[in-house]
Amino acid sequence: MGCAKFLFVFSLYSLFLMDASTAQRPGFVSLDCGGSNNFTDEIGLEWTPDNYMLTGDIVNIVVANETRKQYKTLRSFPADDNKYCYTFNVVSRTRYLIRATFLYGNFDNNNVYPKFDISFGPTRWATIVISDANTIELQELIFLATDPTISVCLSNATTGQPFISTLELRQFNGSIYFNQFESQFYLSMSARINFGAESDEPVRFPDDPFDRIWESDSVRKANYLVDVAPGTEKISTQMPIDVSRDEWPPQKVMQTAVVGRNGSLTYRLNLDGFPAPGWAFCYFAEIEDLGPSDARKFRFILPGAPDLSKAVVNIQENAQGQYRLYEPGYYNISLPFVLSFRFGRTSDSTMGPLLNALEVNRYLKKSDGSADGPVLAAIAMSYLSFKWANEGGDPCIPAPWSWVQCSSDPRPMITSIKLSGKNLLGTIPVEFTKLGGLVELWLDNNSLSGPIPDFSGCPNLKIIHLENNRLNGELPSSLADLSKLRELYIQNNLLAGKIPSGLLNKYLSLNYTGNAGLHKENGGSHKNIIIGTSVGAAVMLIATITSCFLLRKGKKKPPRKGESQHNLPPQKLASSLGDTNAEAAHYFSLAEIKDATNNFERKIGSGGFGVVFYGRLLDGKEIAVKRLTNDSFQGKREFTNEVSLLSRIHHRNLVQFIGCCQEEGKSILVYEFMHKGTLKEHLYGPLTHGGGMNWIKRLEIAEDAAKGIDYLHTGCVPAIIHRDLKTSNILLDKNMRAKVSDFGLSKLAVDGASHVSSIVRGTVGYLDPEYYISQQLTDKSDVYSFGVILLELISGQEAISNENFGHNCRNIVQWAKLHIESGDLQGIIDPALHEYDIQSMWKIAEKALMCVQPHGSMRPWMSEVIKEIQDALAIERGAEAVREGSSDEISRRSAHSSLNLGSLDIGASDHHYLAIDESIAHPTAR
Ligand SMILES: *[C@@H]1O[C@H](CO)[C@@H](O)[C@H](O)[C@H]1NC(C)=O
Ligand SMILES: *[C@@H]1O[C@H](CO)[C@@H](O)[C@H](O)[C@H]1NC(C)=O
Ligand SMILES: *[C@@H]1O[C@H](CO)[C@@H](O)[C@H](O)[C@H]1NC(C)=O
Ligand SMILES: *[C@@H]1O[C@H](CO)[C@@H](O)[C@H](O)[C@H]1NC(C)=O
Ligand SMILES: *[C@@H]1O[C@H](CO)[C@@H](O)[C@H](O)[C@H]1NC(C)=O
Ligand SMILES: *[C@@H]1O[C@H](CO)[C@@H](O)[C@H](O)[C@H]1NC(C)=O
Ligand SMILES: *[C@@H]1O[C@H](CO)[C@@H](O)[C@H](O)[C@H]1NC(C)=O
Repeated sequence: MGCAKFLFVFSLYSLFLMDASTAQRPGFVSLDCGGSNNFTDEIGLEWTPDNYMLTGDIVNIVVANETRKQYKTLRSFPADDNKYCYTFNVVSRTRYLIRATFLYGNFDNNNVYPKFDISFGPTRWATIVISDANTIELQELIFLATDPTISVCLSNATTGQPFISTLELRQFNGSIYFNQFESQFYLSMSARINFGAESDEPVRFPDDPFDRIWESDSVRKANYLVDVAPGTEKISTQMPIDVSRDEWPPQKVMQTAVVGRNGSLTYRLNLDGFPAPGWAFCYFAEIEDLGPSDARKFRFILPGAPDLSKAVVNIQENAQGQYRLYEPGYYNISLPFVLSFRFGRTSDSTMGPLLNALEVNRYLKKSDGSADGPVLAAIAMSYLSFKWANEGGDPCIPAPWSWVQCSSDPRPMITSIKLSGKNLLGTIPVEFTKLGGLVELWLDNNSLSGPIPDFSGCPNLKIIHLENNRLNGELPSSLADLSKLRELYIQNNLLAGKIPSGLLNKYLSLNYTGNAGLHKENGGSHKNIIIGTSVGAAVMLIATITSCFLLRKGKKKPPRKGESQHNLPPQKLASSLGDTNAEAAHYFSLAEIKDATNNFERKIGSGGFGVVFYGRLLDGKEIAVKRLTNDSFQGKREFTNEVSLLSRIHHRNLVQFIGCCQEEGKSILVYEFMHKGTLKEHLYGPLTHGGGMNWIKRLEIAEDAAKGIDYLHTGCVPAIIHRDLKTSNILLDKNMRAKVSDFGLSKLAVDGASHVSSIVRGTVGYLDPEYYISQQLTDKSDVYSFGVILLELISGQEAISNENFGHNCRNIVQWAKLHIESGDLQGIIDPALHEYDIQSMWKIAEKALMCVQPHGSMRPWMSEVIKEIQDALAIERGAEAVREGSSDEISRRSAHSSLNLGSLDIGASDHHYLAIDESIAHPTAR
């Protein structure tokens, strides 16, 4: 810690708190550094100047062909050892993109191009190296906000002067860019490419609602998209593309693509920041009309990674149709700096490969920041009106604040605070006493009043300067316990009472003159006691710092959870009921049914359509017999139609239909018997013993049920809307796997279109409010009901309750929404749940809220819900394995989860993962 730097007091006032919600699109902030007024640019972004910055110079520049106003100015900073920070308000637990751009424009008329660092909070983000005066350098991070503010700092001027042109903050919504590493890593953008682009212009806002910048593949740059295979052709369409999947690439990007007419697509490009582990996704949509005998199948080939080539992409099949997004990728893949890749047609494919877009981000490890960060932030908070309290960023990293010094640990601690003569008022903030590494404290020559606090929390204190203030009260005796104290200056205050004798028996420079009431134990003379030498003190200081570091290093970090995950979104094979072999329903006689049920002896349930009885067939098979209420299906013909439909629906997450009976005016349906009863009974009923089900079990049940529902929506033609999803319609088998029951009894949904029905059917608490009002039934009505079920799984509360949700609230949706949206997830988690990973809980809570959005169009599809549940399960299994302390467990379980998700699972090292895809293992279901 250089003395010169310590004494150098620079003027810096960099705190900028801008409420992101005031911008044109909620969560957008566009800062025109060096600008002088607000303006709206040609694409509709509203720019604001950074004119609250009191440091740095505003410079106007002129760059040929650059007409955008935000690039006519920049702000430059002194080339020194300090950091210069911009701070923004953000919403915690929300993902954002932050983009910093730098257009040099030779603003300083210097022959040396600038080189400096930018950091994001304490994390070193990038080194900005200007290599061309007229080219914009750009850095972009995607992050999950954990604190209410973020800061971007410029520092480490290596050559030239640090400067900045723009800072852009863009808020995401939903689970876009979720990844299981996000608590420890940021995503730093390396490539985001729009293939087949029709011009050199990038696609961004408003085409991309989040203002991501999708670079055109026709821009010519060094080592950027070279080695293009012969036969590569651009194609485009005007057809709308369904992009409503996780990353929401803009439709405009998906409407163009490149195809390898000669069977291959090849590209080479440099990936900034690599080699490193990264996040890489491809975006595909079939935008050509394929003939009936045409197939487009291809593999991804990355030299040195043969495993990645095992999976075959078939866009139309993977996306479940034309003009629909399919986004396979890797959450954690190691990529080289020079990325050279190929898509190659398979031998049985008639069409060459196609690629619409590509996105590659690097994982940037978050820095924990200095150990005393929160304490210093609290101190700064109490002096917000002072410049020195507004320097922003971390107190120590990448450069310390002007008034502190830090240890040089990987996790630095504050060793010195120097706030002499800063006009401080009030009492000494108690936060100072929490700095365990503090060696020097200088608060002299202020107007501080009140007592001297207890500094026993700072055992390393060597120098305390409190002279020339208005401190009163007695000298705390704890000062005498500071074994390292060598200098205590308290002269010219209003202190009184006895000087603790401990202070008089030490090698301590103590100056207490000018305190009228202060006297030695024996009431003796008010004399300075100067003992010891400064040399001795210096030796002690070194000893202090060293021992303190050793102590800190002994602390172990908790083991990391989170395993590599090579999973891709689930693949679905579209199939239609009409194509499958329709099995004829088995017709039972009433006598057989009476026999099996012992004349309807044991009632096991009742539902909207009738009463259910336990039965056992002659061959020992256990069955559930549903005797429909008389008016359910009057006509024999209608009954037969329904039954033949039911007999054709097979999915392992749907209760199996076995047969029926219609005699003597009774209509009876026979299903497989589910041993463990209903989910409802396990959550609230008689089966809730010993705290009921743990969180993993609940997630597994949710996954099973969601798959069953998704199959009804997408696997059946025409699609089936359940209409009456609720916890009593989710049944559990011997192994506690869930199946959905009571489906298909409502009228079939008309394929793709809304269904209008005269009777609103459903159960209070689960009923989609939009359907209730409009009577327009869509599959999103089931999504609503499923959202309610998810909330029940989280909270262990029933959908409707007169007592449990507080005043004026009978409904779980209102209640949960209120808590979750205010960040209080804990407030709704079932007290019976003890071990769970809060991340997986948040994922489900957020998805559940999306499911119960008032309008169907805002709710996700079941496939998205499934993916979220699977992600939550992967997190939870990882966390459980850590809890159980077994690393074998981690690998076994994560292998299992990639099996569940596996589709284009090219990260998996084993063919089995592809073969056991559920759609293949259960052909009858698809
Ligand atoms: C500029 O925009 C910001 C944020 O949108 C607003 O707070 C400020 O009042 C505007 N300034 C002027 C001069 O309009
Ligand atoms: C500016 O644009 C013109 C016309 O498009 C072009 O000829 C010229 O080379 C460009 N200048 C620079 C510096 O890019
Ligand atoms: C400052 O930048 C130089 C050159 O990029 C680098 O070697 C050095 O490690 C950086 N210093 C800090 C403290 O980050
Ligand atoms: C997220 O943003 C996209 C794009 O603006 C929008 O279409 C979607 O409805 C939003 N989702 C939610 C849950 O707000
Ligand atoms: C495509 O391949 C064929 C046969 O290999 C070759 O004759 C043709 O020139 C290739 N087309 C292009 C554009 O390279
Ligand atoms: C990605 O995988 C590598 C190697 O398997 C591992 O070291 C790393 O921690 C994983 N996660 C991230 C975010 O890099
Ligand atoms: C003690 O403080 C007084 C008042 O500031 C000063 O005059 C005196 O020189 C100091 N004594 C020593 C030994 O530093």
